[in-house]
Formats: sequence, structure tokens, C-alpha cells
Amino acid sequence: MNKQQAHPSDAGPSNPGDQFSKAGFIFAAIGSAVGLGNLWKFPYITGKFGGGAFFMLFILCLIIIALPVLIAELAIGRGGRGNASSSFYKLSGSKFWAGSGLIGVVAAFMILSFYSVVAGWTVYYAVKSFSGSLFSNPDYNGQFEAFTGSWSPVFWQFIVLAICLFVILKGVSSGIEKFNKVLIPGLVIVLLFLMVQALRLPGAGAGVEFFLKPDFSKLTGHSVLEAMGLAFFSMSLGMGAMITFGSYVQKEQSLGTASIAVGLGNLSYALIAGLIIFPTTFAFGIEPAQGPGLVFVVLPAAFSAMPFGSLFGGLFFVLLAMAALTSAVSLLEVPTAYVMSRWNLSRKKAAVYTTIVVFALGVPAALSVGGVLSDIHIFGKNIFDIIDYIASNILLPLGGLAGTIFAGYVWKKAGEEAGLQGIWYKIWRFLLCVITPILIVLVFLSSTGLLDWIIV
Ligand code: PHE
Repeated sequence: MNKQQAHPSDAGPSNPGDQFSKAGFIFAAIGSAVGLGNLWKFPYITGKFGGGAFFMLFILCLIIIALPVLIAELAIGRGGRGNASSSFYKLSGSKFWAGSGLIGVVAAFMILSFYSVVAGWTVYYAVKSFSGSLFSNPDYNGQFEAFTGSWSPVFWQFIVLAICLFVILKGVSSGIEKFNKVLIPGLVIVLLFLMVQALRLPGAGAGVEFFLKPDFSKLTGHSVLEAMGLAFFSMSLGMGAMITFGSYVQKEQSLGTASIAVGLGNLSYALIAGLIIFPTTFAFGIEPAQGPGLVFVVLPAAFSAMPFGSLFGGLFFVLLAMAALTSAVSLLEVPTAYVMSRWNLSRKKAAVYTTIVVFALGVPAALSVGGVLSDIHIFGKNIFDIIDYIASNILLPLGGLAGTIFAGYVWKKAGEEAGLQGIWYKIWRFLLCVITPILIVLVFLSSTGLLDWIIV
């Protein structure tokens, strides 16, 4: 193979030189995109920041911000044939741009620290659901609070990180890509079944209305930043994952078409998740704006009301845990690859050290959602929320901005690499060079309060 293979930081999730088949790539990219972001984060953020109007904002962010950035990141990866940082370097020869990949490394590391907490909750709920003990007490809110208030989430987070570490060390991620081909359709079948059940519940209509009927008076300046952060998070953008993926895409594949497929796939999962969660929330009189526990409180109620609920509940949480695991593995790969090349370590050492540090940051996150550290607040948020906020709403947009400016202004062949032609090329350039960067900067400045400071 070429000389990239010798570069330790090039060790990606698959074998360098390995390429995805066209359909395989779409599945793998949807597999990275679909995860806790769609089924856990999307519903609770939508519930908290304005329902239908927020959903519209999210779709808008997907189209005018996330899609152009996704095409740019895939093009950077395919053009540079490297990882989050080395691709920038190979295309520009500039250390500054290679350094911009660092934002993604830090973001991936921070996201994994709380992502693994929620993945741990999911595994715990799968076990409780299969055993039936979840349904022995209908106070699901109380159950969730008792669980997150204890030390038990730390144990489940540890299990999740240990599995991720095992996968990364074995390098069986090409197996994971095959696994995605079964997992992604399997998950959608279970979800569609749940959706039909949820929509048939008495009082479900109010939930559908909350989710799909926009009431723009509910939006605040913060909703816009949240929608943008969520679009980056759920499309796995701004942290090098899609750049790494891009390096395994065949030259003949059109990145524009592939990106639209990934965007639509990701949006469908969010839409179905919303059509499960909100009808159930309203049917059972649960508060939609209650935060990270939403899915864990609402879904057990739905499962308990259906035939074979404990079986379905178990199946659902297992599939969700697996979807989370595929995303978590791609998150762990980003800092691991960086640590390997930065400190010249073996893959094994780099992965073990990175996992230990992620766990060290993850334990306080796990204990801050109702647990012993829940009284610690930074800027009004608990540890879990502040890590999520900094990573998703600040670092991911900044990482995305770096890719946008790079593909728009620095690396001149980005459009050619993406394979876009005619009007599509013009639209993409316009979004990439003008609209997307301006929007990211404006949303960013206004919601962090810096805009008021500059204007005044
Ligand atoms: N997109 C994933 C989800 O929605 C999370 C993720 C973010 C995965 C960034 C990889 C990289 O759950």
C-alpha cells in the first residue's frame, strides 16, 4: 500500500486500503450517525426547547449547515486519505490546519465521557426489562431517579467502556460495519412497531401535535444553538469521524448523493423516535421537558402497556445499546489514533490510556445526574450537562467551521473531490463559503452572549 499505512495516526476504524462498497458506506455512515443522539438526546432536547418549532429548526440546520459540512468532511477524508488531523495536513501541508483537527479530538473525548454513561443506562435497562423487574413498579420516574442517584451507573459505564476498548483492541470494526447492516434495519423494524403502538394510545394526538405543530413563540436564542449543536452531534460532524470515514470511500461514489442518503436516514430515525416518545409522553401524562431521563421514563410506561412488553422492551434497549456501542467505538477511535501518533505509543497502550482518562471524566458525569455530585453546578448546569454543552454546542460547531473554511477557501479541489456538478455544485459552494460559516459564527456569538458584548 502507499506510505499512509506507515503513519501510525492513520490507523482508522478499518484497515487502511480497505474500502467500503457503495451501499456498505451508506450503512456504516448511518450506523455512526444513528445512536443515542436520535433516540435519547433528540427527544429530550426537542421536549425542552420548544417541540414542533424546534424540530423545524433542527431540520433547517440539517439542510443548510450539516449537509454541506458532511460533504466537506467526507471530501477532506477521501482527498487526504488520512485521519481527522493528517488529512488536513496532507492536503495543505499546514501545521495550523492539522492542529484544527485537535478540536475534534477533544470533542470526541468529552462526548464519549457522557455518551458511555447513557450507553451504560441503556444496558442496565435492557437487563431490567428482560428480567421483568423494570415493570414491577410503575413509578418509572422514581426508578430512574433511584438508579441514577446510586453508584450503579458507574459500574454500567465501566462495562460499556470495557467493551469499546475490547473492540478497538481487536480491531474488529470491519465486523462492526457488517453488523451495522443487520442492526440498522433491525432497529427500524422494532421502532416502527413501537411507533404504531404509541400512536394508538389514547391521548396520543396531543403528543403528535406537540412534536409536529410548530409554535414559534416557544423558541429562544438558545434554541438555535441547541438545534445546531444537535445537528452536528447527530450527524457525527465536527470531530473527525466523518473525515476518517471519507478516507474509506471509493473514488467513484458521489459524496453529495451519499450525504443526502445519510441525512435522510438520520432524520427518519429522529422522526420515528419523536413519534414514539411524544405520543407516549402525553398519553401517560409525563412532562416532556424533563431532561436526560425522558426516554428511560417514557418508554417503560409504553412497554408495560403492550403485550410481550418486557420482551419488546428488552429487545429495544439491547438494540439501542448496540447502536450506541457502534457510535462509541468510533468516538474512542478518534482520540486513540491521536494519542498513538502524538506520543508514539502502541495501539494497545494508547487505547488503554485513553479509555482510563475517558472513564475518569465519565465518573463525575455519571454521578451528577441525581447522584452524589448533582449539587455541583457550573454556569447553572450539572457536570454531565456542562460537558455535553461544551462538546456539542461549542467544540463540534467549531470543528465543523474548520472543515467548512478549509474546503471552502483553503483546499481548492474540494468540489471536484465531492463529485458535485452544475447547480448542485454552485449551491454547495454558496452554502459552504458564505451561509454555513456566517450562520455558525453568528449563532455561536449570539448564544454565548459574545454578540451583545461586541455590539454594545
Ligand atoms: N451521531 C451519534 C449519535 O447520534 C453520536 C456521535 C457523534 C458518534 C460524533 C460519532 C461521532 O448518537
